[in-house]
Amino acid sequence: PTGTVTDRLNRPLHDLRLSVTDRCNFRCVYCMPKEIFGRDFAFMEHDELLSFEELTRLARVAVAHGVEKIRLTGGEPLLRRGLEDLIALLAELRTPDGREIDIALTTNGSALALKAQALKDAGLKRVTVSLDSLDDTTFRTMNDVKFPVAKVLHGIDVAEAVGLGPIKVNMVVQRGKNDQDIVAMARHFKDTPYILRFIEFMDVGTSNGWEMGAVVPSKDVIARIHAELPLEEIAPNYSGETSRRWRYQDGGGEIGVISSVTQNFCQTCSRARVSTDGKLFTCLFATDGHDLRALMRGGCSDAELSTVMAHLWRERTDRYSQLRSAKTSELRASGAKKIEMSYIGG
Ligand code: GTP
Ligand code: 5AD
Ligand code: SF4
Ligand code: SF4
Repeated sequence: PTGTVTDRLNRPLHDLRLSVTDRCNFRCVYCMPKEIFGRDFAFMEHDELLSFEELTRLARVAVAHGVEKIRLTGGEPLLRRGLEDLIALLAELRTPDGREIDIALTTNGSALALKAQALKDAGLKRVTVSLDSLDDTTFRTMNDVKFPVAKVLHGIDVAEAVGLGPIKVNMVVQRGKNDQDIVAMARHFKDTPYILRFIEFMDVGTSNGWEMGAVVPSKDVIARIHAELPLEEIAPNYSGETSRRWRYQDGGGEIGVISSVTQNFCQTCSRARVSTDGKLFTCLFATDGHDLRALMRGGCSDAELSTVMAHLWRERTDRYSQLRSAKTSELRASGAKKIEMSYIGG
């Protein structure tokens, strides 16, 4: 049972996001706050994680159903030992009509300088780096482990130099925390090959203390930049792209805004996510995933795995961000637990 699949809202499966570890060396307050992810937090044991063989097997089945892009996430994916070996395995996959897969990585950049070359050699195509501020004091406060911003900036440069570009830089904007840095970030990355993207702070998980007041709507982000550095909107690269693209009128390059709160993109959402322990989630905000690890470790065949995956996608109706306001209060009332970002990888 191979071939492309579409869900109940007619959205194809195009993108697979694999979380390869639930650990991170940062403690970003909005993602892994120290009070919860402290010394006593029980991260997964090694045998709970999907092995590289299991990840590759899943990816192969997903590719047969139309996946053309695989993004490795975490936690911090570069903490997974031997990640380049996984990339080398994934790089051998081909679409049914023989094309290569776009293999990308979302990282905090802390280990990029060290690992960029090996990642490139293994077959990684490009990286996206999370960077919430250029101001060293703000950055150290936000990552909450006093990690210096200069090391991340250096990592980005090394990644670009070894050919992992065009590199995207993701800034999660939080009012009162880093929104004062919006224009400085824009200026810093203007006239460079880097594509800076401003992300609206989302209500993922249950531990990040989200409130609407902390969200700076993307249209305000654009207005603040446009007032100093004139912008114009440009067309998306592909249907289902998370980001809306803008370019500097003077030719200084492009930026993007990811507005899942104020202008959700559920209608074209083509992303499936696999958690570190092998559960398939059809939405970032899903409360339950389907345990593919149990299936695989129970000895299922590729055909069975394929049938299950296709079935899960065909039945999919998720559009959380569209339903957000209703759902949030409903979920709060029911005390339901949303999954954490560090487990599902954003
Ligand atoms: P490219 O377009 O390939 O560069 O990647 P991407 O934008 O899909 O991936 P990236 O990891 O850079 O995603 C950026 C951010 O967009 C994520 O961290 C999330 O905050 C948000 N995001 C990505 N996918 C989704 C999604 O399906 N739903 C929602 N609500 N937010 C998403
Ligand atoms: N809202 C928006 N983006 C988030 N990220 C982590 N938590 C949130 C949130 N609550 C981002 C990270 C990284 C990506 C994987 O997800 O900064 O860029
Ligand atoms: Fe780590 Fe990224 Fe979460 Fe920060 S946002 S704690 S870098 S996984
Ligand atoms: Fe896709 Fe769910 Fe995000 Fe909507 S909220 S874009 S359905 S992952």
